[in-house]
Amino acid sequence: MTSLQELLLSRIQDVPDYPKPGITFKDITPLLADAAAFTALTEALAEICLAQGAQKVVGLEARGFILAAPVAVRAGVGFVPVRKAGKLPGATLGQAYELEYGTAEIEIHADALEQGDKVLVIDDVLATGGTAEASVELIRRAGGEVTGLAVLMELGFLNGRERLTPALAGAPLDAL
Ligand code: PRP
Repeated sequence: MTSLQELLLSRIQDVPDYPKPGITFKDITPLLADAAAFTALTEALAEICLAQGAQKVVGLEARGFILAAPVAVRAGVGFVPVRKAGKLPGATLGQAYELEYGTAEIEIHADALEQGDKVLVIDDVLATGGTAEASVELIRRAGGEVTGLAVLMELGFLNGRERLTPALAGAPLDAL
């Protein structure tokens, strides 16, 4: 394990039985509150952004916003939010996806990306991959080219990486 991984892991708190019995929630608020850890995470993500030549960073609501916005500033690129349905004021494109029970929908502003914009997608957690898969599809429909997906944590036992393989079409998935 690298020293960055040790630092990040040491600042992620397991919260048992949240939000439901049997679920262990990965709380990143201690990491965000630690300037050294948050800065190290931001810099690592910004390096990925620059290495991929991304021209925009897309953050996924809500915790993805917190990580992606400083990365955009650090890398000198724009930030675009993918939001839960009904939150964006302008004309939107929407993408529905399956949850364990029911469906959810996310949206992007229809004019948020230029045709061919290279986009790095950032979120805190990759779990089942449903949110990321829908986001990649949405970005493509909005004219963007996904250069990669970068997350702080990947919950490997949920097999999100496998689910995302077709959607990413060879673009890298980096889990710090
Ligand atoms: C969490 C997490 C990811 C998503 C991962 O978001 O921040 O966006 O779930 O799950 P998946 O891979 O199974 O789709 P959540 O919907 O809890 O939203 P929040 O960040 O607004 O709390």
